[in-house]
Amino acid sequence: MGKPRPLLMGSNLKMYKTAGQTREYLAALQELTADIPRTELQLFIIPSFTSLPAAVEQVDQDLIRIGAQNVFWEDQGAWTGEISPLMLKDLGVGLVELGHSERREHFGDTDLTVQRKVQAVLRHGMHALICVGETAQEKELGVGTERLRAQVKIALHGVPEGALDQIWIAYEPVWAIGEKGVPAEAPYANEMHGVIRQVLKELYPNRGADVPILYGGSVNLDNADSFAAQPEVDGLFVGRSAWEAARFNEMIRRTLKVWKEARR
Ligand code: PGA
Repeated sequence: MGKPRPLLMGSNLKMYKTAGQTREYLAALQELTADIPRTELQLFIIPSFTSLPAAVEQVDQDLIRIGAQNVFWEDQGAWTGEISPLMLKDLGVGLVELGHSERREHFGDTDLTVQRKVQAVLRHGMHALICVGETAQEKELGVGTERLRAQVKIALHGVPEGALDQIWIAYEPVWAIGEKGVPAEAPYANEMHGVIRQVLKELYPNRGADVPILYGGSVNLDNADSFAAQPEVDGLFVGRSAWEAARFNEMIRRTLKVWKEARR
């Protein structure tokens, strides 16, 4: 048994919200959630790159941790349009999301580039939130679990056990994400988290089981608590339904209640 951990809840703002809007959102969210003990909840928000300076200035990162949506693996160089881990660190950003399905689908991120990015993030002492998930086709063809296993193994290739506390995994089935997505049933998500947990244990027999695994993909106010009741789910990674502070606050409270009851 590891030590009890806080419920992890966070949102990727994708390509939404200007710096000013991000500020307003974070100010409201911080105020609304201020009374929730951070021993019970770890909250994080991942705004666009251009909003990061404002975000870091706006929040107390002990209350809301700020992350970036991507990073390049080199510290500097002739890489027009890319953002280096040094640049993120310089801003006070300590969390980086890697391999989101939209990046894999539209911007050429692959298991191997995700692996290089994980290494860069760890090298700079930051945390990596690694997104994995099978497509609808892979699920239909019965290779969903193989796909997950490969994604996790490649992303963590070369990561020493001592760096595991800098790793979070988000299970986000591609077919569940976004407007056209259908949320996974909670027991299915639990089963897939179990598959990921198993790979982690194989790779790291001592500490693999402690890596938090979050569910993401059409999480909303009505289904969030169903995931929190599942034993393999350590947190939720929310898109659309988190982008209004009052609604996200409501979701966090409902989820935390069920989370705590399920873990009594
Ligand atoms: P969604 O996004 O909640 O809007 O489906 C989830 C995600 O992309 O992480």
